[in-house]
Amino acid sequence: MEQPAAEPPSRNVAEWTIGVVGAGTMGSGIAQMAAGAGHRVMVTDASAESLESARDRLKKTTAGLVKKGRLDAETSRLLDELITWAPGAAGEYALFRHCDLVIEAVVEDLAIKRDVFRRLEAAVSPKCLLASNTSSLAITAIAGACKKPERVIGLHFFNPVPVMQLVEVIPGLLTSPDVVNQAEELMSAWGKTTVRSADTPGFIVNRIARPFYGEALRLFEESIAGKSTIDWAMRELAGFRMGPFELMDLIGNDVNFAVTRSIFDGMHQDPRYRPSITQQRLVEAGFFGRKTGRGHYDYAEGATRPEPDREASRGGQIVDRIVAMLINEAADAVYWKVASGADIETAMTKGVNYPRGLLEWGNQIGAGVVLQRLHSLQELYGDDRAGPHMRKFGIKYAALHPRHLMVREAFAKVKNLDDWRGVLIQWYADDLPGCYPDPAIHRGADCEEAA
Ligand SMILES: NC(=O)c1ccc[n+]([C@@H]2O[C@H](COP(=O)([O-])OP(=O)(O)OC[C@H]3O[C@@H](n4cnc5c(N)ncnc54)[C@H](O)[C@@H]3O)[C@@H](O)[C@H]2O)c1
Repeated sequence: MEQPAAEPPSRNVAEWTIGVVGAGTMGSGIAQMAAGAGHRVMVTDASAESLESARDRLKKTTAGLVKKGRLDAETSRLLDELITWAPGAAGEYALFRHCDLVIEAVVEDLAIKRDVFRRLEAAVSPKCLLASNTSSLAITAIAGACKKPERVIGLHFFNPVPVMQLVEVIPGLLTSPDVVNQAEELMSAWGKTTVRSADTPGFIVNRIARPFYGEALRLFEESIAGKSTIDWAMRELAGFRMGPFELMDLIGNDVNFAVTRSIFDGMHQDPRYRPSITQQRLVEAGFFGRKTGRGHYDYAEGATRPEPDREASRGGQIVDRIVAMLINEAADAVYWKVASGADIETAMTKGVNYPRGLLEWGNQIGAGVVLQRLHSLQELYGDDRAGPHMRKFGIKYAALHPRHLMVREAFAKVKNLDDWRGVLIQWYADDLPGCYPDPAIHRGADCEEAA
């Protein structure tokens, strides 16, 4: 679809004035980041108390950095000067009238965000870009509240904003390519690494990371291993910085559960994203994790954790299973063009510090081996959790080629998971020429019938 061009930017991105709506965890981090890059920043929040505490937090942070010698006093003074904190209880966004970009970081609620965008658009100049930091809502749905949805984009920062290098850039269905380019240029000027994601549930990181938690919870629920054993295996054997249960407790089970639910609903109850009852019970009990003193583990003073069972073969099986499910998600995201293979690798290593890119990991293990693991899980459980793509296509391909009785053999042909979509389409094109007049056109439903 041809998108209307956005108004040309008023000036060089480095000179932009940045607005921020919402001064919570993310909004205050974004304001700090923008001022640190030398922008004038205008911040507002519906709650005067939130605004006040964000300002105090930033003062404390910069004072601490000056004390440690990591920031000079002059830069700290400049940071303070560059940010204007203005209460916006009455929904008055006039303070943004000279802004070139306003980033919204209010509560994760579509109706509230749409209302903010509608009011923002009425207050800003025609050249101003509008961005949302939503982690799970559709950018297109937020942009739909605006008369000019082409100026709306997703900029998904990670927490803490000044520290985490990754920003997911999410064009909505109607976002102008100019707006995407300007937003990426600005993020590079801030020293961020950007990846571009389709406007699909969970974008890149939150979608692909789901099995890290979901499969771990499932292993626990099936009494295959205890939480501390699973954490030990994923940390010590697979090289993740934290185990899944430790990480859920750090993120907050309330937040982690809500993200899983939102992706599950957004993907129309795809069983791969089914939330866990174990985690639901923790949330219902208020056992959110570190922040409430109790989650999967007890954080009370003197509390001890169960010792992991450090048996190597069991640990290896835990790793193989969770990693195969993660690789499946990454391959699935390549297939659906959620992002390029390269961006998926960057997103998972920089956004959630995975020890290595999942596609590279899959290539190293071998697509056939990964597929065999997924196939075994599917055989065992009979649900479609270990699918659909690597497994479904592998099986379909094997079915089409009786000479390849072993699925593993068929998939061993995939040398590079980054390119496996192209490989599959070419296979179909070669094998079912009537079905694929042009390999660039993927007509999976027709092939299903032909098969
Ligand atoms: N916390 C994270 O790790 C994280 C990471 C990435 C993205 N996000 C997303 O960023 C957004 C903000 O998250 P957060 O963790 O900073 O939340 P938060 O609860 O810390 O802050 C939200 C702020 O928005 C304010 N607010 C609520 N309604 C408002 C309105 N109508 N107008 C102006 N201000 C309003 C609240 O007073 C509060 O200060 C959410 O969309 C969230 O999904 C969060």
